[in-house]
Amino acid sequence: MTSSLFSPQIQDVLNRIASEQQRVDETEQPKLLEQIRRREAAWTPEELVAACAGGYYAAPAAIGRMLYACVRAVRPRTVFEFGTAYGFTAIHIAAALRDNGSGKLYTVDLHSGKCLAARDNLKAAGLGEYAEVITGEAVAVASSFSRPIDFLYLDGWVDFYLDVVRAAEPHLREGALVHADDTGKFAAGARPYLDHVRDPANGFVSLGVSDGQGFELSAYTGPSVQVVS
Ligand SMILES: C[S@@+](CC[C@H](N)C(=O)[O-])C[C@H]1O[C@@H](n2cnc3c(N)ncnc32)[C@H](O)[C@@H]1O
Repeated sequence: MTSSLFSPQIQDVLNRIASEQQRVDETEQPKLLEQIRRREAAWTPEELVAACAGGYYAAPAAIGRMLYACVRAVRPRTVFEFGTAYGFTAIHIAAALRDNGSGKLYTVDLHSGKCLAARDNLKAAGLGEYAEVITGEAVAVASSFSRPIDFLYLDGWVDFYLDVVRAAEPHLREGALVHADDTGKFAAGARPYLDHVRDPANGFVSLGVSDGQGFELSAYTGPSVQVVS
């Protein structure tokens, strides 16, 4: 069986998102990043999502292919994504779930307009039934999530990764894979998250990967881990 990722229906939607991303990157993105850097006070999720509403922020294509590969290999029943935006990564994950023949993606974003667009994009890619787009704040949604999570993908703002992973921990299946994006690009904001997952006492085995933006891959080994030397 060939991968549905390369079907014209899916590639058309991915290419449309990528070209819109390029346009916005050249116009809006630098202004947004400058505005965010200038502020010294901590952001609430609502303030930060509103401040960044004009940006696109789709992950690079290589991250999309990596997510597809991980989902094919891990064969998760449930994937939880923090940060839907326009659905670029959600489409890769949903395509892999369809090719696996099982599993569902739950993807969360606080921005209702982006959620609407992501639902349309998933539908246009023929993947609507493999993904549920949830409009809400990721920590709140993860806290009340009712299914065991096999694969957690973090791609919202790094400042909230620690709170999201802590909220998700009670739902993580032993052996769950956790992928956190942009941990090199936004290293200062990611620090508390990295300290958490790199401490084996917190129940993770973790490593950082340098791909330009940097990401962290972790396996959840359980709530209380005995470190055997
Ligand atoms: C980097 S973008 C996601 C990109 C997407 N994964 C892709 O590659 O297409 C980050 C998204 O996280 C959302 N977000 C940030 N903080 C959030 C929070 N606390 N709860 C829910 N969504 C949040 C933003 O609205 C934004 O759309």
